[in-house]
Amino acid sequence: MAAVRRCCLLAAVLLWSALASAATAAPAPVVAGPVSRVEDATMFRIYYGQSFKVIKNSGDGKSYLLMQNTSKMASKTKYCTGRIKSFVIPLASFSVDTTTSPVSFFELLGVLESLKGITSNQVASQCVLQSYTSGNAQLVNRTDVQTLSQFTAHFISDTDEDRGCNFAAYVPLEEGTPLQMAEWIKYLGTFTNSENRANAVYDAVKTNYLCLSKVAANLGTRFKPVVAWIEFTQGMWTFVKESYILQYVTDAGAEIVDATITDKRFNSSDPEDMDNFHAILCTVDVVIDQTYALEPADIWRFDKRIGASGTLDWSDGAISQPQLVLGDLIEIFFPTGNYITIYFRNLAKDEGVTEIGPEMCTRSISTPMDPIILSCE
Ligand SMILES: *[C@@H]1O[C@H](CO)[C@@H](O)[C@H](O)[C@H]1NC(C)=O
Ligand SMILES: *[C@@H]1O[C@H](CO)[C@@H](O)[C@H](O)[C@H]1NC(C)=O
Ligand SMILES: *[C@@H]1O[C@H](CO)[C@@H](O)[C@H](O)[C@H]1NC(C)=O
Repeated sequence: MAAVRRCCLLAAVLLWSALASAATAAPAPVVAGPVSRVEDATMFRIYYGQSFKVIKNSGDGKSYLLMQNTSKMASKTKYCTGRIKSFVIPLASFSVDTTTSPVSFFELLGVLESLKGITSNQVASQCVLQSYTSGNAQLVNRTDVQTLSQFTAHFISDTDEDRGCNFAAYVPLEEGTPLQMAEWIKYLGTFTNSENRANAVYDAVKTNYLCLSKVAANLGTRFKPVVAWIEFTQGMWTFVKESYILQYVTDAGAEIVDATITDKRFNSSDPEDMDNFHAILCTVDVVIDQTYALEPADIWRFDKRIGASGTLDWSDGAISQPQLVLGDLIEIFFPTGNYITIYFRNLAKDEGVTEIGPEMCTRSISTPMDPIILSCE
C-alpha cells in the first residue's frame, strides 16, 4: 500500500510540473475518495491526485488527464495533443462504438443512463437495447466526428479510429488472459467515479474465476481432456492459438491438442488434408468450432446468446464475466448434466440460441447489473 501511495504521489508531482499552466497551487498529497488499483491487466495504469486522475493507456500510447468537474483545473484546462488528452469527470454523457466494443462493462458499472450514443443497435445487451428503444441512447454515425463531439467521451476499441479529442480508447481484447480483459472495468470506472463498484465487480469475478479454476484442477481424471478449438478462414482449417483461449482451456482443467499438430493448416478443398484433419478431430475429446462450417457432431459453439443480426454476446458479456465462460467449459470438459451452459451450446444435442431483445431487460437501466457468481465448492 505504501508503494502504491508513493507512486501516486510521484505521478501527481510529475504531472503538476509538466502541466505548468495549471500548476498555480501545489496539490495536497492526499487522495480523496476511492481508488482502483490494477492487479492483472497489463495495458493501463491509473494514478490519483486530489482532484484529478491520470490513466496511462498502452492501447493508444496516450495519457488521459481526468479532471473532477468540481476542480478549477476542469474549467481552465483542455489538452488534446499527440500524447495527452483531457476529460472532465464524472462524464456528463458518453457514447460507445458498439460495432467493435463491448458494452457490458458499463452495465456492470450501472452507468447506462449516461450512455447517450451507440454506433450500432446490433448489441447483445438487453438493457442497452432497452435504452435505445426508449430513446435514452441515440444511434450515431461512427464516422461523424461532429455529432460524436457532443458527448463528453466517445469510447472506441479500434485505436486506428481515433478521430477526435473526446475519443477514448479501451482495449480489453488486446490483453492476454480472461481476467486481464475483465479488469478493464476499472479503467472505465475511473471516468464515472465508479471505482468502488468496479473494484467490487472485479473482485467478485476474479474470486469466482479462481475458485472454479481450482475446482477444475482437482477434477481427477488420470488424463486431462484434450480439446481442439478450431476455426475456418479462407478455405483453411486451423487451430485457434490466441493466448486467452489457451488460458481458458487450461484453467478449465483440460489441454489443447499438441503444438506439433496445432501448427498445421488444412485445406478444405484438398481431400487428403481433410482426411488428416478429421483423423485429428477423432482423437480429441472435445471440439469447439468457432465457425459455421462443420457438420454438427458433438461440437460446441459459443453462440448461445445472440443479439440482433447474430451479434454474439461472446464478444461482449463474456469479456466482462469470464467466470461464466469458465463454468461452461468445465461442464463441457467434465459433464455433470445438471449445469446449464450460458455461452456454449452443443450442436449434437440441437441446442438452440437465445435471442436477446429489449423486452428482456427487467431492471431499470440506471440499476447496475450484478455479476453472476457461480456456485463453487
Ligand atoms: C459534477 O458532476 C456531478 C455528477 O454528475 C453533477 O451532479 C454536478 O452538477 C457536476 N458539477 C459541475 C460543476 O459540473
Ligand atoms: C456517416 O458519416 C459520413 C461522414 O460524416 C458520411 O459520409 C456517411 O454517408 C454517413 N453514413 C451514414 C450511414 O449516414
Ligand atoms: C487448396 O487446395 C486447392 C485444390 O488442391 C488449391 O487449388 C488451393 O490453392 C489450395 N488453397 C490454399 C490456400 O493453399
